Amino acid sequence: MKISFAEFSVPQSGAVVVGVWEERVLTGPARQLDELTGGAVARAVAAAPRFRGKKSDLLPIIGPPNLSLGRIVVVGLGKPEAADARLVEDLGGALVAHLNSAGETTATFAVDLGDAAKLQPAEAAARLAFGAELRAYRFDKYRTTQKPEQKPSLARLTVASEAPGAAKAAYRALGATAEAVAFTRDLVSEPANTLYPETLAERAAALRDFGVEVEVLDDERMKALGMGALLGVGQGSVRPSRVVVMQHGGGVPGAAPLAFIGKGVTFDTGGISIKPAAGMGEMKWDMAGAGVVIGLMRLLARREAKVNAVGIVGLVENMPSGTAQRPGDIVKSMSGQTIEVLNTDAEGRLVLADVLWYCQDRFKPKLMVDLATLTGAVVVALGHDNAAVFANDDRLAERLIAAGKAVGEHLWRLPLGDSYDRAIDSDAADVKNIAGDRAAGSIIGAQFLQRFVNKVPWAHLDIAGVAWSKKDAPTVPKGATAFGVRLLDRFIGTHYEKD
Ligand code: BES
Ligand code: MN
Ligand code: ZN
Repeated sequence: MKISFAEFSVPQSGAVVVGVWEERVLTGPARQLDELTGGAVARAVAAAPRFRGKKSDLLPIIGPPNLSLGRIVVVGLGKPEAADARLVEDLGGALVAHLNSAGETTATFAVDLGDAAKLQPAEAAARLAFGAELRAYRFDKYRTTQKPEQKPSLARLTVASEAPGAAKAAYRALGATAEAVAFTRDLVSEPANTLYPETLAERAAALRDFGVEVEVLDDERMKALGMGALLGVGQGSVRPSRVVVMQHGGGVPGAAPLAFIGKGVTFDTGGISIKPAAGMGEMKWDMAGAGVVIGLMRLLARREAKVNAVGIVGLVENMPSGTAQRPGDIVKSMSGQTIEVLNTDAEGRLVLADVLWYCQDRFKPKLMVDLATLTGAVVVALGHDNAAVFANDDRLAERLIAAGKAVGEHLWRLPLGDSYDRAIDSDAADVKNIAGDRAAGSIIGAQFLQRFVNKVPWAHLDIAGVAWSKKDAPTVPKGATAFGVRLLDRFIGTHYEKD
């Protein structure tokens, strides 16, 4: 879909979208089209019993009189004082879905928010385009027999603005964000027969083209570093494990970096503690944390963020086999702590234990944030509308929660504490990887990670419930969500890029 910005003029064909405030108050462009069509817009609005101009109410007028247009879409904008960036993004997304299912190929958005809204006109136009682009994402590279009517039709979108130059400028950073989100969604959607540690590492290595410094650690190097916890998870797979280190140096030279760490289990069968067959295919998404970190690093480089950042992902495939680790095995982590692996399906925490340790040991970061599809228990606790955040630092937790709220990626904080920590004391080693009952499963996972974190401010995002979605949302089509890319980009931009 090609997006451009221009001053509004009524096109010769395609669809035009105009806005109506709550209680059926027509915006400028809506009035303009109403006049050109001899009152068709106001008539349609008055005749539709359920259309009141509430946010995302949609009213198509097919083949409007006096014009060669295919359709006018009247869209509800809600109350002017509530029209903020998120609402406008959602609008852009909902409109793309509508136009694609209607088969329209070109569209003009003339959603003029006027002076009442919280947004500048240029910002509003850019946000509309951003929402549209996020929703237009598709992962259809493996579909070979789609009929034309099953494919998205919308090829060209013009967003009308009284300040098209400023809108285009405002869209530059948002367009880069949409691109990074699509990149992450592509990685997460890719099945595990093509995406495994080596190929995911290659995709990350391609970030070199954008100026990211990328190192790929192979099994020999990891062995030399003592990463026995991570290597133990990967030892049952014919696919060798990898750790990828990505550095973006846009800040003060030598200043401590922000660190982002991702769980990259390219497929999680559970290992010898094998998962049930039903739904196991979903475990191709178990590298979503890594996908988000790689997408974030790409975005920071593309928009030349004025910050030093390091992204590190631990890439393994968790398989059952004759070489796989067994429940009861004791492995030695890079930190020196020994771990009793009582359940080989609690593998993400084993991978992260070594990556977190390696990260703080080598980079002495200003802070560390890890993302992981770590526990099924977080889905029980929070469902699909919030990810869990755990932190050893209140300010870090608050900043992450605020950034999430601003971009519509919501976090809910869950506690850490000594009494939970005692549940993973092992009889045979320094720590065990499960508590042995189902109580507080997500907290136990976080508690395990904390054993490998020293004094550095650290937060853990358990994204198991939000990394993919079974239903469409306005700016997130079903499938991989890339939850975290926008949140962390906002977090960094708000607090760490001031010169
Ligand atoms: N990758 C899973 C967590 C998961 C489950 C993500 C469902 C998304 C949906 C993780 O590796 C896992 O298997 N966790 C176990 C931990 C348990 C053995 C303590 C779980 O949640 O069952
Ligand atoms: Mn598992
Ligand atoms: Zn897993």
